[in-house]
Amino acid sequence: MAENNDYQVLARRWRPQRFSEVVGQDHIVTTLQNAISQGRVGQGYLFIGTRGTGKTTIARILAKALNCLSDSKPVTEPCCQCASCQAIKDGASLDVIEIDGASNRTIDNIRQIRDTVSIAPVSSRYKIYIIDEVHMLTKEAFNALLKTLEEPPAHVKFFFATTDPQKIPPTILSRVQKFELHRMDWNTLNSYLSMMAEKEGLKASPAAIAAVARAGNGSMRDALSVFDQVLAWGGEEVTEKDVASLLGLTDREIISELNEAIVKTDCAAALECVAKVLEGGRDAERFILSLIQYFRDLAVMKISNSPGKLLEESPEYLDSLRKAAGGHTLSRLTQSIDELLQILPKLSSTEAKQTILELAVLKLIHIRSQISPDEIFKRLQELEQGSVIKEREKIAERQAAAPENGNQPDLSGDLALAKQLFPGSRLE
Ligand SMILES: Nc1ncnc2c1ncn2[C@@H]1O[C@H](COP(=O)(O)OP(=O)(O)OP(=O)(O)O)[C@@H](O)[C@H]1O
Ligand SMILES: [Mg+2]
Ligand SMILES: [Zn+2]
Repeated sequence: MAENNDYQVLARRWRPQRFSEVVGQDHIVTTLQNAISQGRVGQGYLFIGTRGTGKTTIARILAKALNCLSDSKPVTEPCCQCASCQAIKDGASLDVIEIDGASNRTIDNIRQIRDTVSIAPVSSRYKIYIIDEVHMLTKEAFNALLKTLEEPPAHVKFFFATTDPQKIPPTILSRVQKFELHRMDWNTLNSYLSMMAEKEGLKASPAAIAAVARAGNGSMRDALSVFDQVLAWGGEEVTEKDVASLLGLTDREIISELNEAIVKTDCAAALECVAKVLEGGRDAERFILSLIQYFRDLAVMKISNSPGKLLEESPEYLDSLRKAAGGHTLSRLTQSIDELLQILPKLSSTEAKQTILELAVLKLIHIRSQISPDEIFKRLQELEQGSVIKEREKIAERQAAAPENGNQPDLSGDLALAKQLFPGSRLE
């Protein structure tokens, strides 16, 4: 790693410089590369997607590919060596102009662009305007932009990026090609972070990386910046505990300990878990939220044949969930989630957090020790089956005692049995 004083955050150091380095957006990368190789690159592109998924990154790579000097025409992968690629990387290219739409949102800002588009590029094939957060432009600014978009000079390209396409007028939308970036799923984040940690020589356990990937919540940039924070905060080796403490997430160990206490209906052990949660300075609301998530995961485990798709977790954790789910019935799990959801709002406005948490776990134990409707039904069935067998034995005995009872079979026993099983029926 670089020395602390010139440390560059991971998200910057790991900004993809080539199309092949972009992850999770193959649908866009392939389309763009095909357009380049077929010489059909449009004049306006809009990249839509949540934060930190690659909009700015892809716009810059596309700019490099179009202006790369390694060939006499645009290339499907920028060389990253030539003067043009280098200048774009350093933000020093005179022909690739990056504008932040949030801070340049007025009509005057857009007029400045309009006045310069007709001027030929200084040293490149194309003059490329990358406008980030384009939805922030004012109505008047959009109108001014529209004029330029309607008839742009052949050497001009516009790449827009937005997290909020609804705020862009339809007149603009209809003049650009739209690309929707995917939110990063946990698997993508997890494997990217593992690869990066290995290349950087960072020591982080797989469980710690999995937790960072979860914290990224669909955004690569967020995942990388959480990683930065854990590295700055933790020791030589990053553990899941470090991540949990840093993010105020509840340690999974405590949750699984608590689950065991609930399954064993051990009230004392459950209260000890609550004490541990609060001693560790964890947030009570977050703890309840984690507990709700845990019971939800157990319920998914019980319901789904392929829970891996619904639970974005490591195989080891899925395994531990599977074991824990065995100790619960579905109806108890849903009852427990209900109970916790009711407790949640009470926590925000009270000082008595410990008591409320204690009460909550005791209620979970109470739910656990109640007989569930499933079990009542099962027991009833067993009882009924027992009485069927007994009734059959009686009939057999009676028939054995009176075998010469004509040709009329004696149904009285069966009728009595049917009436017992279906009370209220009109069997005669
Ligand atoms: N698809 C991706 N593949 C690899 N790294 C990515 C990807 N998307 C984002 N990153 C990482 O996140 C950082 C930020 O990405 P980028 O600036 O492209 O996000 P963005 O979609 O423009 O986000 P914002 O809406 O916040 O502007 C990059 O420097 C890179 O480290
Ligand atoms: Mg961006
Ligand atoms: Zn180049």
